[in-house]
Amino acid sequence: MTKKILVTGGAGYIGSHTCIALHEAGYEVVVYDNLSNSSREAINRVFSIIGQPISFIEGDIRDAETLRQVFAAHAFFGVIHFAGLKAVGESVAKPLLYYNNNVSGSITLLEVMAEYDVKNLVFSSSATVYGDPETLPIDETSPRSCTNPYGQSKLTVEHILEDLAVSDASWNLIPLRYFNPVGAHPSGQIGEDPNDIPNNLMPYISQVAVGKLEKLSIFGNDYPTVDGTGVRDFIHVTDLAQGHVAALNYLQQHASSKNGSDTTGSVGFLPINLGTGKGTSVLDLVAAFTKVSKQPIPYQFAARRAGDIASCYASADKAKELLGWEAKLSITEMCQDTWRWQSQNPNGYDSH
Ligand code: NAD
Ligand code: WQD
Repeated sequence: MTKKILVTGGAGYIGSHTCIALHEAGYEVVVYDNLSNSSREAINRVFSIIGQPISFIEGDIRDAETLRQVFAAHAFFGVIHFAGLKAVGESVAKPLLYYNNNVSGSITLLEVMAEYDVKNLVFSSSATVYGDPETLPIDETSPRSCTNPYGQSKLTVEHILEDLAVSDASWNLIPLRYFNPVGAHPSGQIGEDPNDIPNNLMPYISQVAVGKLEKLSIFGNDYPTVDGTGVRDFIHVTDLAQGHVAALNYLQQHASSKNGSDTTGSVGFLPINLGTGKGTSVLDLVAAFTKVSKQPIPYQFAARRAGDIASCYASADKAKELLGWEAKLSITEMCQDTWRWQSQNPNGYDSH
């Protein structure tokens, strides 16, 4: 039986790549997205890559009535919940918007899931829940703390999921804690398309390389790291997408559900890191991108960015052990695929 999956936020950067991976793995996908940070063109490109349309519903996760209609119309095995706002700086300026969208929206989604007895969930969490880590690499038992409303919204949803799992053993809840997702589909047709000036490093670098931005500012060169710049665990978005397929496969094997799992067990609350386990510095990423794109990437050193930490990289052992998943793609491949997407679509989805 083909398993049907509701993908909230499926038109977004990570969601669109995951829709392709799900389709290739034999899952049937229904995308639910309010297009607040994405475009229909991304969905059209997903259709074009997989060679057939997928179901798309324009809707908001805070709209219980529309969600009910979707759950009434489809027998879902589970939900992958990407929908959320993700800009750290904006969350400091607009905390109510972030708590409303990310926390209230998740509660509404969970309530409707409960109504329809769909209790398998994969949730987009983030390495941001680890705050400034005491030890590296970061494993899933590391203490959690957040310093901005975006991170707090992810941590709050994690707490809600934990409480839900305690209250009722029929919930199977996997928060995936992503490290730093970068890269694009190898076709160059879909990728990250930030509004305005990018906040994150990789899209900033690629927009400098393509000539849209003049110069990269590197925030801090006095961190206690290999070269003084920040160190992160960059992970290719297609590896990340495969991590979601692996999490769903795990739910199929270990969770009970009326809509087609293989066993009658319970997963409870099972947080899992998705990272490569390797740290790369800002300067190393700039050098790798310069080599791949053969473009100059001018940069200047600037003050540290408020809230940044020196180093962050995952222990990816739990994902390997439980899900049989590990990241395969290198920094060079992350840069190659980002560059293909950026150079073919200099204005993102607005190019066409
Ligand atoms: P994205 O903005 O590209 O995708 C999120 C999607 O959710 C967008 O298509 C947006 O339109 C949709 N959305 C937002 N609010 C919604 C709502 N109320 N109802 C319906 N749809 C809504 O972001 P992304 O990079 O693909 O991230 C996906 C998820 O992963 C987010 O929850 C994000 O917080 C989390 N995450 C992202 C990163 C990262 O660096 N990209 C890292 C860790 C975690
Ligand atoms: C990486 C490094 C910067 C931009 C953020 C969120 C986190 C998660 C992933 C969602 C840092 C440096 C950056 C620039 C720079 N998102 N940098 N110049 O901060 O690790 O994580 O995205 O959950 O919550 O905080 O990623 O790409 O912004 O920064 O020097 O123009 O690049 O200082 O060292 P970060 P990033």
